[in-house]
Amino acid sequence: MSILVLFGSAGMAYYAVAQVFLVLVLLFCSASANANFSTDFDITWGGYEHANILENGRSLNLLLDNTSGAGCQSKKEYLFGKIDMQIKLVPGNSAGTVTAYYLSSQGPNHDEIDFEFLGNVSGDPYIVHTNVFTQGQGNREQQFYLWFDPTKDFHTYSILWSPQQIVFLVDGSPIRVFHNNEELGVAYPNKQAMRMYSSLWNGEDWATRGGLVKTDWNSAPFIACFRKFKVEACKIKKNASPPSCSVASEHKWWNQDTQQERLKWVQQNYMIYNYCADTRRFPLGLPPECNAP
Ligand SMILES: *[C@@H]1O[C@H](CO)[C@@H](O)[C@H](O)[C@H]1NC(C)=O
Ligand SMILES: *[C@@H]1O[C@H](CO)[C@@H](O)[C@H](O)[C@H]1NC(C)=O
Ligand SMILES: *[C@@H]1O[C@H](CO)[C@@H](O)[C@H](O)[C@H]1NC(C)=O
Repeated sequence: MSILVLFGSAGMAYYAVAQVFLVLVLLFCSASANANFSTDFDITWGGYEHANILENGRSLNLLLDNTSGAGCQSKKEYLFGKIDMQIKLVPGNSAGTVTAYYLSSQGPNHDEIDFEFLGNVSGDPYIVHTNVFTQGQGNREQQFYLWFDPTKDFHTYSILWSPQQIVFLVDGSPIRVFHNNEELGVAYPNKQAMRMYSSLWNGEDWATRGGLVKTDWNSAPFIACFRKFKVEACKIKKNASPPSCSVASEHKWWNQDTQQERLKWVQQNYMIYNYCADTRRFPLGLPPECNAP
């Protein structure tokens, strides 16, 4: 009898441990599962005719025609982490179209971390336009061509946002790093939580060859496809001041030692505009972060 009870209680304990383990595994998985566009996002403009949720919430197509584009935003807000989205850009003649994918807080002093994809006529290259806004202030553009055709297939565009740095990645390759240079007096986005936004709109006034090539509405509707939006929260080191992401999570996403060469390769071969090299635009001197090591 007593043996049975002992056995029983050990079994119960084992069962309890298994339950705890299961709960932890579920929490861990749900933290990094792909978002459901039906439940995790709000369509903010364009309506469901221009924002089609497909595959049971697994993917989203945004449409632009001569009546409207479309946009959506995540219901949740985030403060630091790594976000990934797979995007297949508007194929064919996409001149004038802008596909945007960015993080932003709200209000006039908002922070923002931008990816924008500027379309082109068939066969000519898209531009990946990046920018960082702090306290409502942008003017930190860097632009790139890609080393593949972004309209043929889905590719992963990521933003790593930690208290120390912002890294833009394409298929895991870093293309841009924006460091926290608060000690030089440069504001850094680390106080306001941000939502994720996606949109497709008509930017013919500036997007393609600086606005020379307009949108050809005969090619409408223009369609950009999104899927596998995923957020991994950064685990903040306890008692660290200033706050920082645990080295483990940050290194998993961007390892300066092993990926620095790749970053250099992208910047040397694919960067087409860098505000930090635009001395004509800043006659009184480049912004302080441009001269930081
Ligand atoms: C996404 O959410 C909708 C609405 O709740 C649900 O019907 C659908 O099954 C979900 N999709 C997935 C892939 O879980
Ligand atoms: C928009 O496009 C549709 C279909 O091509 C066309 O019938 C309509 O006249 C266009 N409307 C405007 C305002 O250009
Ligand atoms: C479009 O193609 C032209 C000609 O190759 C190029 O100068 C431009 O940078 C390309 N991209 C955009 C978005 O204008």
